[in-house]
Amino acid sequence: MQKMKDKVVIVTGGGTGIGRGISERFAAEGAIVFVNYARSKEAAEETVQTILERGGRAFAYQADVVEDSAVKAMFADIAARFGRIDVLVNNAGWSQRVPHHQLADLTDEIWERTINTNLRGAFLCMRAVFPYLKKNPGSSIINIASIAPYTGQGSSIVYAASKAGVISMTKSFARILAPEARVNCIAPGFVRTRFAGWPQEVFDEAEKNSPLGRLAEPADIGAAAYFLAAEALATTGETINVDVGQTAIGRKV
Ligand SMILES: NC(=O)c1ccc[n+]([C@@H]2O[C@H](COP(=O)([O-])OP(=O)(O)OC[C@H]3O[C@@H](n4cnc5c(N)ncnc54)[C@H](OP(=O)(O)O)[C@@H]3O)[C@@H](O)[C@H]2O)c1
Repeated sequence: MQKMKDKVVIVTGGGTGIGRGISERFAAEGAIVFVNYARSKEAAEETVQTILERGGRAFAYQADVVEDSAVKAMFADIAARFGRIDVLVNNAGWSQRVPHHQLADLTDEIWERTINTNLRGAFLCMRAVFPYLKKNPGSSIINIASIAPYTGQGSSIVYAASKAGVISMTKSFARILAPEARVNCIAPGFVRTRFAGWPQEVFDEAEKNSPLGRLAEPADIGAAAYFLAAEALATTGETINVDVGQTAIGRKV
């Protein structure tokens, strides 16, 4: 049985990288997937096209997650068209690499865009979707954080802090959406995407040290998101790491 059949799923930043892996997985499980984007129209349409070619259902949907009115309009529009919203995946994120010791390079502009997109954007989406999920028992939110806050590492100091906030908000929203809806989080380790413009050598190094001998891929994050939405029905407020064992067991011995 397809547990996601006909469920309405919205993936922010769903047309590229990890978001694409999540969109494709939910569509493969029978969901109607809204592939949200702010700027990457072409990538969103390409993801939708791939899903359609595989026999799935998907729509590209433009809305900047930092624009409260656009966010509210997106959820209202989708709920009006399909009668409900079942899953929100807060995947949209932004970062710029700033070596941590170069404190002066962490400009106000980088600080604001990072917090605004990763933390405030996720908040605006959760606030706007709240009433739809509250009246739809069994629905859920999945936030995409990072393992960066566990050690304070990652692409910048503010990036790690923004994702710590996402983990914290996961718990706060899990409290206020219970018992009707669940809210969980995924903390990926390195995934080879365009994110933050990491050079390939950084991924290569991480892969060399990976306990599992590989890095997580967008499809691995999609699998975890599917699990949290469709299978982990007694789990809420939780963050699961999809980091090839890096957090739990460290580097390859
Ligand atoms: N790759 C990794 O190693 C890694 C590790 C841990 C966590 N993550 C997290 O995974 C998530 C996805 O990242 P990714 O690796 O797949 O990189 P990515 O391909 O750059 O994905 C980021 C997505 O967010 C969207 N986005 C950014 N600002 C937005 C806004 N204001 N409104 C709507 N969409 C917006 C982008 O679309 P537009 O171009 O349309 O803005 C893009 O689709 C991020 O939250 C990131 O922090 C990534």
